[in-house]
Amino acid sequence: MKSYSLRSPAKINLYLEIVGDRPDGFHELATVFQSIDLADLVHVRSGMQGVIQVECAAEGVPNDASNLAYRAAALMSERFPEAFAKFGGVAIEIEKRIPVAAGLAGGSGNGAAVLVGLDLAWGLGLTQGELQELAAELGSDVPFCVGGGTALATGRGEVLDPLAGVDQVWLVLAKYRSLGVSTPWAYQTYRAQFGAEYARTPEAQAARHTAAKSGPLVRSLQALAAGDRAGLSALRPLLRNDLERVVLPAHPQIAQLRDLLDRLAPLGAMMSGSGPSVFALAESASQAQEIQAAARSALPDPDLEFWVTQFSAAGIRPVNQSV
Ligand code: C5P
Repeated sequence: MKSYSLRSPAKINLYLEIVGDRPDGFHELATVFQSIDLADLVHVRSGMQGVIQVECAAEGVPNDASNLAYRAAALMSERFPEAFAKFGGVAIEIEKRIPVAAGLAGGSGNGAAVLVGLDLAWGLGLTQGELQELAAELGSDVPFCVGGGTALATGRGEVLDPLAGVDQVWLVLAKYRSLGVSTPWAYQTYRAQFGAEYARTPEAQAARHTAAKSGPLVRSLQALAAGDRAGLSALRPLLRNDLERVVLPAHPQIAQLRDLLDRLAPLGAMMSGSGPSVFALAESASQAQEIQAAARSALPDPDLEFWVTQFSAAGIRPVNQSV
């Protein structure tokens, strides 16, 4: 079997509106995903003795069946048992660069990378749509991770409307190393506190989806994608993440970091997904570096980590292959 190494980029949410409840217990969302250049490297090769193995040295990443990369390989082995038997198992190695449990879909991206890697290695020739259907069985963010770029998502996050790719936008990412937020906790707390605001009927939910799709953020992103740099300064008041309403009051450290970055960044700052990572947008690499330096000196805490990166159009991409 060929061995594949794939880049598995992180994402941020530029918009995350919780629209309502779903019969499956998840939340109906309208969200804008954006891939960024910060990426893990996932190596997929034939394993020993017909088993699935996952190896990742990073702290907090399970090397067992709970890892989304493992679950992706298990799903592929169930769906394509002949290929699994023929190639003799799957060995996965993850080089982690994306902070773990950060609201950046690092684990989801690793799952998507294994789907894409095994499709290539096993010569299955799956379409992007087929890969995304498999991805939806693994988690809400996984289908987006397959193709990456810029997309508006509805449903649990798995119904994707791709948008024209936005580039030349930089960001400073910041995260307290020791701080974690449980995604189920964030959604459950949101339901308990703000459930009264939910759109109750399918029609009311559809109306909120339509409003987000034709809303000012999507229009500004499209203007930006078309080369109108003025669209950049329009983004600031349009960034929205409903989960901030529960995560920030429960974690004053994240709220302080978010407020600091929002003051320092002319284009604004926000928490990504269910947190705890916070991003600040910047119009140039040098502006991003300046924001990072100013934030570091305002909050000189060794537990606080920063990255400077940029928007990316890339989803899962093989970077090399060996026979
Ligand atoms: O799909 P994923 O495994 O990423 O979701 C993690 C948790 O986040 C779910 O178990 C659920 O509690 C919550 N969630 C939700 N609605 C979504 C996505 C996630 O309630 N659309």
